[in-house]
Amino acid sequence: MANLYFLYSHIGLIIFFLPCFLSCPDQKSALLLFKASLVSTTTSPDSSIPIFSSLDSWNSTSDCCHWDRVVCSSSDSRLRMVQGLNLYSLASRIVDDPLPLDGKALMPLFSIRSLMLLDLSSNFFEGGISGVGFGNLSKMVFLNLMQNKFSGSIPPQLYRLRYLQYLDMSSNLLSGALTSEVRFLGNLRVLKLDSNSLSGKLPEEIGNLKMLQKLIIRGNNFVGQIPTSIVNLKSLETLDMRDNKFTMGIPSDIGSLSNLMYLALSKNKLTGTIPTSIQHMEKLEQLELENNLLGGHVPIWLFDMKGLVGLLIGGNLMTWNNSVKSVKPKHMLSRLSLKSCGLIGEVPEWISSQKTLNFLDLSKNKLEGTFPLWLAEMALGSIILSDNQLSGSLPPRLFESLNLSVLDLSRNNFSGELPENIGNANTIMLLILSDNNFSGEVPKSISKIHRLLLLDLSRNKLSGNTFPVFDPDAFLAVIDYSSNDFSGEIPTTFPQQTRILLLSNNRFSGSLPKNLTNWTLLEHLDLHNNNISGELPEFLSKLSTLRVLILRNNSFTGPIPKGISKLSILHILDLSSNDLVGGIPTEIGQLMGKVVESPEIPNLSGNHLSGEIPVSIGNLKAIKLLNLAYNNLSGNIPSSVGKLENVETLDLSHNKLSGSIPESLAKLHQLTVLDVSNNKLTGRIPVGCQMDTMNTLSYYAITAGYVEFKSSSHVQNRSNQQNQ
Ligand SMILES: *[C@@H]1O[C@H](CO)[C@@H](O)[C@H](O)[C@H]1NC(C)=O
Ligand SMILES: *[C@@H]1O[C@H](CO)[C@@H](O)[C@H](O)[C@H]1NC(C)=O
Ligand SMILES: *[C@@H]1O[C@H](CO)[C@@H](O)[C@H](O)[C@H]1NC(C)=O
Ligand SMILES: *[C@@H]1O[C@H](CO)[C@@H](O)[C@H](O)[C@H]1NC(C)=O
Ligand SMILES: *[C@@H]1O[C@H](CO)[C@@H](O)[C@H](O)[C@H]1NC(C)=O
Repeated sequence: MANLYFLYSHIGLIIFFLPCFLSCPDQKSALLLFKASLVSTTTSPDSSIPIFSSLDSWNSTSDCCHWDRVVCSSSDSRLRMVQGLNLYSLASRIVDDPLPLDGKALMPLFSIRSLMLLDLSSNFFEGGISGVGFGNLSKMVFLNLMQNKFSGSIPPQLYRLRYLQYLDMSSNLLSGALTSEVRFLGNLRVLKLDSNSLSGKLPEEIGNLKMLQKLIIRGNNFVGQIPTSIVNLKSLETLDMRDNKFTMGIPSDIGSLSNLMYLALSKNKLTGTIPTSIQHMEKLEQLELENNLLGGHVPIWLFDMKGLVGLLIGGNLMTWNNSVKSVKPKHMLSRLSLKSCGLIGEVPEWISSQKTLNFLDLSKNKLEGTFPLWLAEMALGSIILSDNQLSGSLPPRLFESLNLSVLDLSRNNFSGELPENIGNANTIMLLILSDNNFSGEVPKSISKIHRLLLLDLSRNKLSGNTFPVFDPDAFLAVIDYSSNDFSGEIPTTFPQQTRILLLSNNRFSGSLPKNLTNWTLLEHLDLHNNNISGELPEFLSKLSTLRVLILRNNSFTGPIPKGISKLSILHILDLSSNDLVGGIPTEIGQLMGKVVESPEIPNLSGNHLSGEIPVSIGNLKAIKLLNLAYNNLSGNIPSSVGKLENVETLDLSHNKLSGSIPESLAKLHQLTVLDVSNNKLTGRIPVGCQMDTMNTLSYYAITAGYVEFKSSSHVQNRSNQQNQ
């Protein structure tokens, strides 16, 4: 009913009596046909549960105007027509994944030509949008197709629905262009096309939609200049074009959109400067221009805009005019981003006047000095000060905040111990303190932060051998303690949700704890450059969700367990630089069998492995890097190595391999680094191969690339958080 309310109150639609295109009994049978075709085209994963119970009232014995989700016109039963269908979220959610519905089931609805409101949102209908079908519904005023799986382009017939005031096709799979025919939709108040794959230029004719109040096209692939005709849309209140590929300057007259409250152009490729006309937009509340290529000084008049609540202009090529000594803002912001705006000196104190501030991003500037006490006292939700030169210890006051959910202080020069009261800030979700000079132990109180999802303390000087004990049911999923000075046994006091555990470059010792198997979601375990010893346990095979296992440069002994082949989605296996003995298990051929899309790296180099290279190695089709160097492998190189069609780097050097290099290697077209030096090989080098020494740089390039990926995914999490 909410949408109907919208239809009547927001648009102020006056309902006139409509001529009967289809008699009412016929409309009823069309609706029953629709219900029947929904049921017949949908396969339920569990036949015992009715999927369309929301349509239970739709039966042949009752009046269709009394059915749920059906709205009729006149109360005079002889003249009654179906005018509105609220058909959102039709299928009951019986499984976690939404059940896709067949778009063809919609056919019977297209004969109900009296329809003015049709809400089909959140149904995951698949297929193209029927042009002839919707084109039939020429009285349509309100059409909501949001959150389906409609694909293909917007059919031209849709542009002929001249009474349309509300069109929402967001969150579908639509592609193709928005054509100049959009001009026919002159009655549109709301146009939402966000989260599709629409492309091409935005037509100048968009400027004909004089009634438009909301234009939301974020999250598409629109290119080219923002049409200057956009400044004709004088009724516009919301203009959201974030996350497209718009280029060139922002139209200089954009400030003439005097009703605009929300202007979002972030994440495009816009150049030029922020148009000065914006300062005249008296109703503007949110200005989001982040992550473009805008240049020039940060305009000081922005701080005079009284109504502004959100000012996000970071991540451009702008600089701060350092002749401006102090700013006296006239606004009360709740969100501020001046990321990479060339700020120097201390954290600007004028920010303390923004009493309602909740989100602050001053990352990638050249800020110095300590963490200001006034900032700690402001009780912000998100504080992002990464990539500056801030120093000193953290004020304990910061962690008495009851609002803090994101704290990112990475890549600064902060030092001292982490405050013992850190756990009092029990609303933190992302805590990123990496790349500083923090020392001392990890405060035990961190485990009190029950909402914590990501804890990154990497690259500091933290030490100690006892760690916070998290509740097994806590949410914490990503833990990075790498590159510190921790010692003792591998801690196992993380929650069961642990997905990524990075403990590399410390002084951990002892053997691999059995409790690793408690983490049934573990995807990424990196323990390299420690002093962990003992045999590789068989229970490793139980970590079946592992994608990355890096145990490089420890003191593991004994054989490679056969069960390791059960790790069927492993992308990266690095057991190099240990003291492993025995043969390479033939079962290795079953490893990494299923996933082919990403770089796959097995590295067993620098051990004492002996025996022959198993023929099954040729089954590792997706492999890009195979390194068996510096072992005691003997026998021939199996010709099956020639089946590793994706391999780019193959290092078999420093072993005791004999015989000749198999001819099959010449077929490996992706191979750029082949090192078979320091063996007992004889015969010719196959034509087509390049003999080269193993380029260790290329190995590190791949792993470093991975780490880069990991840290960028942190950043991703963080920016998602910002958008909340
Ligand atoms: C049909 O639905 C109405 C409610 O709309 C209900 O009262 C009636 O019992 C139903 N009849 C049958 C045969 O299910
Ligand atoms: C359009 O509506 C008429 C009834 O008014 C119907 O006969 C026809 O099949 C409809 N067209 C489509 C494509 O559904
Ligand atoms: C890091 O902190 C230690 C004290 O724990 C200090 O001696 C050292 O100079 C600091 N290093 C840097 C780069 O600030
Ligand atoms: C290991 O896991 C068991 C439960 O499986 C638990 O009782 C025990 O405390 C854990 N040990 C450590 C050191 O975490
Ligand atoms: C191996 O790890 C030790 C610490 O256990 C470290 O000192 C050494 O530099 C590492 N070697 C390499 C090649 O990274």
